[in-house]
Formats: sequence, structure tokens, C-alpha cells
Amino acid sequence: MGSKRVMLQNGLGKLLRSESLSADRIVDLFCGAASVSWFAATELNKTVAAFDLQEYAAVLAGAIVRRTRSLNPRTVVDEWIVPAKKACRRMAGWNDASKLDRKAPNTATWRKRSQELCDSNIGAVDSLVWCKYGGHYFSPTQAIALDAMLKTLPNKKERRDICLASTIIAASLCAASPGHTAQPFKATRTAGRYLREAWKRDPFTYAQQAVEKLCPLHATKRGQAHVADANEAAKTLSANDLVFLDPPYSGVHYSRFYHVLETIARGYCGAVEGVGRYPPALERPNSAYSRKGKSSEAMNNLLATLADRRCNTNPSQE
Ligand SMILES: C[S@@+](CC[C@H](N)C(=O)[O-])C[C@H]1O[C@@H](n2cnc3c(N)ncnc32)[C@H](O)[C@@H]1O
Repeated sequence: MGSKRVMLQNGLGKLLRSESLSADRIVDLFCGAASVSWFAATELNKTVAAFDLQEYAAVLAGAIVRRTRSLNPRTVVDEWIVPAKKACRRMAGWNDASKLDRKAPNTATWRKRSQELCDSNIGAVDSLVWCKYGGHYFSPTQAIALDAMLKTLPNKKERRDICLASTIIAASLCAASPGHTAQPFKATRTAGRYLREAWKRDPFTYAQQAVEKLCPLHATKRGQAHVADANEAAKTLSANDLVFLDPPYSGVHYSRFYHVLETIARGYCGAVEGVGRYPPALERPNSAYSRKGKSSEAMNNLLATLADRRCNTNPSQE
């Protein structure tokens, strides 16, 4: 348990390096935010196959593991961030949203007026982030900025992958929510200042930083990233695969915490509900690993399949 990004600097990286010597491929069956997939693809001179039930995770992994050359971040900024910033000013609701930002009334009023604005028919009905999360996880101007990023994604696959991953990273860093995106901060006396601080973040700054980080990183060998159930994916593996297992360690589905990022990755979402603005239950990935009565069976089946396939596994949890 814990941040794999930190653990990679702290023993896990060394372990993967030595275990991977005899493998042809490294398989990250629960890739999440993709830190292990990125490390393996860029550092270990092996093909990486990343899997996760959530699409946002496959997008993050794919932005690096599928690409074998670096891209010039300046070009990506000019082709994507610059037009996206211009597109904001043309989008319905931008003038009212900017006016509200400039006034920045007290937090409770800011939140109330923002929700009213995003619920009104001033904004474009096909603007996903505005309609689903504006005035909740994001201020109206942040919502328009993220929608503009989605609308101006480049067509070329490698650039599109980097830009979509950067939009997800920017949304994750701007969301007014404690840690993940289970519920937005309320405008109360204690949480109000966190909401205010988050709503003042500029999504373009974070997206550009992500572009600058991702563009130079690339896989040494072209890999894959898929949305798939780990237990199904395991049936396709072979003896030359080193398999990294970092399954959920909570009884609450990950989709409850990452639904905002998942919506952005998918580019659609049904009617949202509740204080968390959750998508319909059927749209949320459901994992046997987060169900008390099912998790042991799922893990035992997975280990049996991997043993059957003669894979080398190195569970990160005892
Ligand atoms: C502990 S996190 C992985 C964290 C990841 N190693 C990282 O560095 O960010 C567990 C991940 O497993 C995914 N997951 C849950 N059940 C799954 C399943 N049956 N198959 C594939 N992925 C699953 C979740 O969506 C979540 O992203």
C-alpha cells in the first residue's frame, strides 16, 4: 500500500529492474495512475502491457507506453494549449463565468452563483465538464477551460494521447475535492478556503506542465494499454511475462473516487446524481477486488491463472 511513485525510488524500482532481467515483457494488471507502467516502459528496456478497469488509467499509461519517440512540447503547446485558450473565449458562458471570477464574492456566494450559472442554459449543452461538474468540482471558468481542451484535442494519435492525459492530470490537480474526486468541498467555514484555493488554479498551467513532462518521456519498446479486467487479461499472458500486481486495497470501488477523471477520459457521462455528482451505477466500473465477499476469490483465481500461464508474479501486497 502507498504511493508507487515514492516506492519506485525506494526499493520497488530496484526490485522490478532485477526481476525483469529474465522477462520479455512487464505486465501491470492494475495500472491506476500508471507510475509503474511509465517506469517500466522508460527505464527497463522491455515492452509494457498495462491494464485497468478504468479508462482514465489506460489513457495515462498509453500516453507513454505506446510511444517510442519523444515529441517537442513547444509544438504540442502551440497546436493544442494555444487554440484551446482561444476557444474558451468563444464558448457560451465564458463572459459570465469570467465576470463571476473577477468579482470572486465570498465563497458561499461564489459557489451558489456558479452552480446557478452552470445549471442555466447559458453554457453549451454539449460541454461535458461545464454541465456535469461546473460549480461543484470546478469553477465555471475552469470547467470551460477543460471543455475547451477536450474540444481542441489534436487528431494525430500520439499528440492526442498526450493531450488527453494532460487534460486528465490538470483536472485531477484542479478538482476542488479532498485528495481524489469522491465529493467536492462544500463552502463551509472549514472547507470553504480549500474550495476557493482550488477554484483559483488555472487548468492551462497544469496542462502545460503535464505536456512538458510527458513529451520527452517515451517507451524504449512499443507497448499497449487496455481497459480490461485483470482476471480476463491474465488468461492471455505467458511464461515470459513479469506481472506486477497492485490490486485495490479498499472496500470502496475506485470508480467512486475517480469518476470525474473517468468522464473526461471517456468524453461522455450519463445523468449525474447526489452530492458527488456520480454517474449512473451501470456506467461505473465495478471490481470484485473491492467487494468483501468476492475479493479473496478474485485474487485466488488470478494467482491460479498466472501460475497456469507460468508467469512470474511479484505481488506488491502480502
Ligand atoms: C491500487 S490501484 C493501482 C495503483 C497503481 N499501481 C499506481 O501506481 O497508481 C488499483 C487499481 O486497480 C484497478 N482495478 C480494480 N479492479 C480491477 C480489475 N478487476 N481489473 C483491472 N483493474 C482493476 C482500479 O481501477 C485501480 O486503478
